[in-house]
Amino acid sequence: MKQDMIVVIDMGGANNAYIAREVRALGVYSEIHPHDLTEKELALLPNVKGFILNGGPNRAFPGQVLEVSEAISASGAPIMAVGCSYASAARSLPAWAETEEERAVALRHFIFDVCSAEKNWSTKNFIDDQISLIKKQVGDGKVLLALSGGVDSSVVAALLIKAIGQNLTCVHVNHGLLRKGEPEQVVKVFREELGANLIYVDAVDRFLDKLAGVCDPEKKRKIIGEEFIRVFEEEAGKLDGIKFLGQGTIYPDIIESGTKTAASIKSHHNVGGLPESFDFELVEPLKMLFKDEVRAVGAALGLPSSMVNRQPFPGPGLGVRCVGAITRDRLEAVRESDAILREEFKNAGLEGKVWQYFTIVPDIKSTGIRDGKRSFDWPVVIRAVNTVDAMTATVEELPWEMIKKLTARITAEVPGVNRVLIDATPKPSGTIEWE
Ligand code: XMP
Repeated sequence: MKQDMIVVIDMGGANNAYIAREVRALGVYSEIHPHDLTEKELALLPNVKGFILNGGPNRAFPGQVLEVSEAISASGAPIMAVGCSYASAARSLPAWAETEEERAVALRHFIFDVCSAEKNWSTKNFIDDQISLIKKQVGDGKVLLALSGGVDSSVVAALLIKAIGQNLTCVHVNHGLLRKGEPEQVVKVFREELGANLIYVDAVDRFLDKLAGVCDPEKKRKIIGEEFIRVFEEEAGKLDGIKFLGQGTIYPDIIESGTKTAASIKSHHNVGGLPESFDFELVEPLKMLFKDEVRAVGAALGLPSSMVNRQPFPGPGLGVRCVGAITRDRLEAVRESDAILREEFKNAGLEGKVWQYFTIVPDIKSTGIRDGKRSFDWPVVIRAVNTVDAMTATVEELPWEMIKKLTARITAEVPGVNRVLIDATPKPSGTIEWE
């Protein structure tokens, strides 16, 4: 590893990730570790230049007292205490009392003057490091990767192709619930442009047959998740000599699952995820990256911006936006209206500025007029929201001219639709998705 590292020690602070990001933003690599880091665990961390103890009341057990492990205090590396006290700290900061500027000055002083860390955290160094780490882990073994086309799995694929080329096999399962043009783009970019070994599985009928008549949102999610695993297992079973499984786990997935001391925010589950009973060793090269860093790595590896800057997309895909029992024609209405919405956001310069925007087609019909005749068709609902952590969200106020244009295009171009509605609900009371 080329990078120097500053370790954020979780002493119950709620903002560990924020501090790690602040350090990385200053050009120095940073990871979060628990207060009871052992000597053995510490020995596995390369180039540790200093520790930031981050205190606060976030505990798995109320009243739990946290003390820094012997390994940390004996390491000799400088320590800064934030929101907690530590006798031999080089510097102590209150949790949030200082301004951003004062914090940045203190942080810079600690990292560069006290710890003498080098500013060598960069996308290029990360890619070089990971390629050699992957080569070391995998040797000439074979890796299998479920490539959904989302940002994380796409970036893992690009990295693995660079590291091991044809020893990677990607499986792209088209479950019929992907956005317009998505499966085609995955095949084009990975098979044709990057020369990947890609198995494309058209499982559209299989998924839609299983989902026919199922209204309950939880049942729909379950069917999609389980069927995905089935298809993947079948494909894996046709291959020989696979020892490793690539996964697009990223740092927030790990942080949000909770550490030994911090209360967990939510348990990490990946709906497109794979069974734990699989007898594979995992390859997770992005597990220490935040989302914006994953995007930067993807761009540096040559993935198109439309793939790298994709909005979040739920594992069950358009299935949770085709509210109620999924039918093929209503699913097409979701897909087509979503494509129009994305196009108009791009035209309006809002792409990348609004956190998430999509359409929903509920299973209701209303009367309208088409070509001078009575129509009885679905409405398309537009939802555009902003959020930081997806736990709460506010509604993006779209310009009226844009709403009028969207209404005109959607009602003219999407078969079976005669109305356009705007969802004005923040989270809470709504969730971001409708199901
Ligand atoms: P909700 O609807 O819970 O969504 O407010 C919060 C964010 O999570 C996304 N989402 C999912 N992502 N698998 C995912 O990978 C899922 O099953 C899933 N459900 C919701 C949603 O799009 C929003 O960004």
